[in-house]
Amino acid sequence: MSTQESLSMGETSNSLRIQRRDDGIALVILDHPAKPVNTISIALLGEVEQKLVPLLSDPGIKGLVMVSAKADNFIAGADLDVLEGYDTPEKASRLSSEGNRLLSMLADSPKPVVAAVHGAAMGGGLEMALACHYILASDHPATVFSQAEVMVGLLPAGGGTQRLIQRTGLIKGLPLLLTGKRLQARRAYRLGLVDGLTTPGGIAETGARAALALAEGRLQRRARKKPLMEKLAALPPVRDLILKKTRKKVAAQTRGNYPAPGMILDCVEIGLKKGMAAGLAQEAVYLGEVATGPVSRNLVWLFKAMNQVKKQTLDMEPRPVERLAVLGGGFMGAGIASVSLGLGPVTVRDIDPAVLAGCAKEVDTGLAKQLKAGSITKLQRDRRLSRLQLSSKPEDIAGADLVIEAVFEDLALKQRVLAECEELISPEAVFASNTSALPIAQIAAQAKHPQRVLGMHYFSPVVKMPLLEIVVPDGADPQAVALALKFGQRQGKTAILVKDRPGFYTSRILAPYLNEALILLSEGARIEALDKAMKDFGFPVGPMALLDEVGLDVVAHVSIGLAQAFASRGVEASQGLLTMAEAGYQGRKNNKGFYRYPNGKGKKQPNLSVYQFFGGVGQKDFAVSEIQERLALLMVNEAVLCLAEGVIDSPLTGDLGAILGLGFPPFSGGPFHYLDANQPDKVVARLEQLVQKCGPRFEPPDLLREQAKGNHLFYE
Ligand code: NAI
Repeated sequence: MSTQESLSMGETSNSLRIQRRDDGIALVILDHPAKPVNTISIALLGEVEQKLVPLLSDPGIKGLVMVSAKADNFIAGADLDVLEGYDTPEKASRLSSEGNRLLSMLADSPKPVVAAVHGAAMGGGLEMALACHYILASDHPATVFSQAEVMVGLLPAGGGTQRLIQRTGLIKGLPLLLTGKRLQARRAYRLGLVDGLTTPGGIAETGARAALALAEGRLQRRARKKPLMEKLAALPPVRDLILKKTRKKVAAQTRGNYPAPGMILDCVEIGLKKGMAAGLAQEAVYLGEVATGPVSRNLVWLFKAMNQVKKQTLDMEPRPVERLAVLGGGFMGAGIASVSLGLGPVTVRDIDPAVLAGCAKEVDTGLAKQLKAGSITKLQRDRRLSRLQLSSKPEDIAGADLVIEAVFEDLALKQRVLAECEELISPEAVFASNTSALPIAQIAAQAKHPQRVLGMHYFSPVVKMPLLEIVVPDGADPQAVALALKFGQRQGKTAILVKDRPGFYTSRILAPYLNEALILLSEGARIEALDKAMKDFGFPVGPMALLDEVGLDVVAHVSIGLAQAFASRGVEASQGLLTMAEAGYQGRKNNKGFYRYPNGKGKKQPNLSVYQFFGGVGQKDFAVSEIQERLALLMVNEAVLCLAEGVIDSPLTGDLGAILGLGFPPFSGGPFHYLDANQPDKVVARLEQLVQKCGPRFEPPDLLREQAKGNHLFYE
């Protein structure tokens, strides 16, 4: 049975071209006719069967080279739309078993097959390369390898759990399978994933020469010298110990919320103990399960939503940002500068020379890390460093097209800084504040050009956090919004547009969640129990640890502002928190918060002195589900209110913002997907019970009641 018959999708995409050379080498050119990148699809597998497999037994062919005709892309991975279309596990499993059947034909062929990789070889693309006898890669920053399936809740089911481990060994290979980490070509070469490096130009020719040399016995695959640890890891007792330890670590990290990593370990173990065929068969069974399950569906949604939002444009082409100025070179300012140096010159202005020196060091360290990882070249590092201008003089920001301020969170200071700035920059330039929660309209209250004052709210640490909230006040100049959006996107951020209302979106929905944790504390919940419950729910950090990270002084400041803004709804700032902040508890930064942080590597310990601020009622046990429900439902409720008030324009924006900015469990798909999965009518009924038990703060918003009444979902 051929691939096309067995998967009953007859169309081919014409993504494969075969070019026979005089020397007996066939070039297999990957080039999807309609897409900018190549993907693995049923159609492509069909073409492999029709066009490539016959070459393996063609007497006129000595060897094959797989090469892509796309710029900076080998194969981007499986076509996720195809997987999404499967409604039964059996169909998804068949994609894997058919793929594996074909890839095994390649791998078992006596004729050498070379993968000549320039650009991204991700997921199934890497698996295709792994099935080849020799992987040649261009030593270029665009060439990256990643077994990325786990990031969308899937497992490598095209032999990746088998062949990758064969090449790299268990110790180096497991983290690649379990995290989807991206490897640049040079790193991949060092790990044994890649056999040879070359330049991008003429890679097909170099690949053809390698294939011929392999066919004629003049070239062997590199016998990599294995480090001692790798040799030891191949011994069954050591191997079993490594697998056991990794399993324990994975269970602790996933907390039962993500099935794929455990499945990956199973497949690796089965392959090592029972042989490759058994490992491949298990890959197919598991792919069926995860591809049709809710976790992967939500993670695939997240992946696609991020891609969609990253490309979002407004109706106009904004003015280019030739020069950026950052005011305040502290924690956030240094991060904002770091993510902007790839785009052009950046002037960082701070009143404190020591801060400027710290900022330079931060940028330098970040670039060194990128260079080491191979994501930038030396030339790029040098160019970026040369673009950084540090200054304590106000006039040095003159000529900036965009100013992002990250000075202390103080309204009068921010107004002053804006006024000073307007004297120096052109009337068309945009001024953006990175304030956590101060209303942008208030910052711009005395501005000459308030329509060009926006919020650009980054998250800490800026270099790592993917979200940017662009805060748009009423009457904002669309040109200014378009400029901020485009600039944020070029920084690599997923930027969402939110209205200038108290707390914007993320701080607003975080506030009732944190407040509920403090209420539970005063009811007798333990600090560590609150954190554990919410980590089990799927947040990366618990609420108490988060309060410490953000800083209790900062949270107290924000919560006073929000309590004032929402006083009519009965919102109050936590007295316990305010008193703690007044008593000098600042959280992690002064080692005095809900936890104590021992110097060095010791584990943080709950700070028992904190209970006195919350009534000191004596701690008791709470059901984990009660903690999770009360905290999560308040965040979800607030998200619905934000949608109803137009703070966010859609459930998609709300879900992305909560996941990427606050760590709302990605596997749940965000607050609105969570509501849909739990059914709005059932959530409303539960909220009504909580109103009786805990008070009116659990009152379901009108919009949620309407959804429940009409049996509507947020994602119809
Ligand atoms: P920071 O204290 O590390 O940095 C503030 C810097 O502003 C200091 O280096 C100070 O010398 C400088 N500064 C003060 N007055 C100045 C002036 N007139 N001109 C130039 N520089 C001046 O504070 P951080 O944490 O970087 O926060 C900055 C802003 O970002 C605040 O509005 C904060 O609310 C916001 N933010 C902070 C986040 C965080 O996690 N730290 C997250 C998101 C926003």
